[in-house]
Amino acid sequence: MSILARTGSGKSYTAGVIMEELLDQGIPLLIIDPHGEYTSLREPALDGDFERFNVSPLGYADLLTVYTPVDRVLNPGADNVFRLGGINLKAGDLSKILGIQSGTQMGVVYEAIQKIRAEKNSYTIDDIIFEVGNSSSNAKWSVLSALESVRDAEIFSEHPTKVQDLVQPGRGSIIDMKGVVPDMQAMIVARLCEELFEARKMGLVPPMMLVLEEAHNYCPEKGFAKTVSTDILRTIASEGRKFGLGMMVISQRPARIDKNVLSQCNTQIILKVTNPNDLQAIRKGLEGISVEAEAEIKRLPPGVAMVVSGDIERPIIVEIRVRKSRHGGESVSVTGREAPDVRKPLFAPDIREDPEWIEEPEAPRVFEVEQKEQKAPEKKKSGSLFAKVFGSGKV
Ligand SMILES: Nc1ncnc2c1ncn2[C@@H]1O[C@H](COP(=O)(O)OP(=O)(O)O)[C@@H](O)[C@H]1O
Ligand SMILES: [Mg+2]
Repeated sequence: MSILARTGSGKSYTAGVIMEELLDQGIPLLIIDPHGEYTSLREPALDGDFERFNVSPLGYADLLTVYTPVDRVLNPGADNVFRLGGINLKAGDLSKILGIQSGTQMGVVYEAIQKIRAEKNSYTIDDIIFEVGNSSSNAKWSVLSALESVRDAEIFSEHPTKVQDLVQPGRGSIIDMKGVVPDMQAMIVARLCEELFEARKMGLVPPMMLVLEEAHNYCPEKGFAKTVSTDILRTIASEGRKFGLGMMVISQRPARIDKNVLSQCNTQIILKVTNPNDLQAIRKGLEGISVEAEAEIKRLPPGVAMVVSGDIERPIIVEIRVRKSRHGGESVSVTGREAPDVRKPLFAPDIREDPEWIEEPEAPRVFEVEQKEQKAPEKKKSGSLFAKVFGSGKV
C-alpha cells in the first residue's frame, strides 16, 4: 500500500493510525524511520478527540523495540543498537557507502578487495583498510579516511542484528535512522530487506508489514537518484505479498518514487496533493483514479483521505481517526507560535484552491506506465461520502 500526500497533510499521522491497528491485530511491523518520528508510538496520546472515534489513548511500548544504527550515546531514545554483518562487503556496495565518485578511488577499492579475495574466503572492513593502506595510488588517502569513518561508525559487526529478533510475532521494530547519512541508510535498507525477504520466503519470520517512510529516498524514480536499495524494494513490492510480506510506502513526492514500486501498491491512501507532477504520477501510475478524483485530491481537508484499492469498487473518502499513541511528526515552529489546529473544523467545505505550488519546480516527465481507460466516477450520495475509517472496523 502507499500513503501519498504533500508535507504536512497527515501522512505520518495516518501511517501511525494504521500501524496501531496492525499492532492491535498482532501483525508484526518493521518500520524504517528516517527521522525517528515513530518512536512516539511507544507513548499514549496526550490529547485528541477520543470520544468522537471511540478510542482510548494507548502507548505501544510493550510491543515495540527501537533500534539505532549509530549508538545509544548519540541516540539515547533507542532501546538497542542495529548492526549489519560486516563480512565480505562487495566493492560496489562499499564504494556507495563511502560516497566514492572518482574512478581512481574506485580502482583502489576494487584492487584491494580483489587482492584480499585471492588470499581469504572471508574478510572484514579492517582487512580492507589494511589492503588499501598498501596501495601505491595517491588516491588511497581519501579512501582510507572514508573507510575509517565507516569503521568508526561501527555499523558493521561480527554480531549482526538478526532478522528473527527484528520480526517477532505480534511485535514491531523501528529502525531509527536519525544521524545516519543517506547512502548508509540506503545500504542498511538494502541489506536488511534482502535478508527479510529471504527469511520470509523460508518461513523464518511470521507474515508482516514493512513500513518505509520517505520511500522516495530508498527507491527513487530513475532520473532523480540511484540507490542500492531500489532493486530489493521493487522485488518486495511485486512479490512480497505472495509470501505474506506487506509493504507500506509513504512519500510526499509520488513523482520521485520508482514507478515499479508505486504501481504495485494494491491500496493507495491519498491525502492532499497539489504539485502537478505528483498528481500526474498518482493519476498515471495508479489504476482507478480519474481526472475528477484528481480535482478532489487537491481539495482534501486535513485528516481526510481518498482510498483507492482493487478491493473496493470505487475511490472512497475516509476520515482518519485520532491517534491512540502520541504523534511524533510535528514540525518545528520558527515563530514560536503554536501551529494552527488543523483538525477544526474537520469537514467545513474549505474548497479554496491552494496558491501556486512554490516548492522546487520540476521538469515535465514522461511516464512509461500504460494509462488505463478510466470511467467517470459515479455520483455519490453525500451521506456515503465520508466513511469513518479504522475506528469502526468497516474499512
Ligand atoms: N487525522 C488527523 N487527526 C488529527 N490531526 C492530524 C491528522 N492528520 C494530521 N494531523 C495533524 O497534522 C500535522 C501534520 O501531519 P503529519 O502526519 O506529520 O504530516 P506529514 O507526514 O504528511 O508531513 C500533525 O502534526 C497532526 O497534528
Ligand atoms: Mg511525515
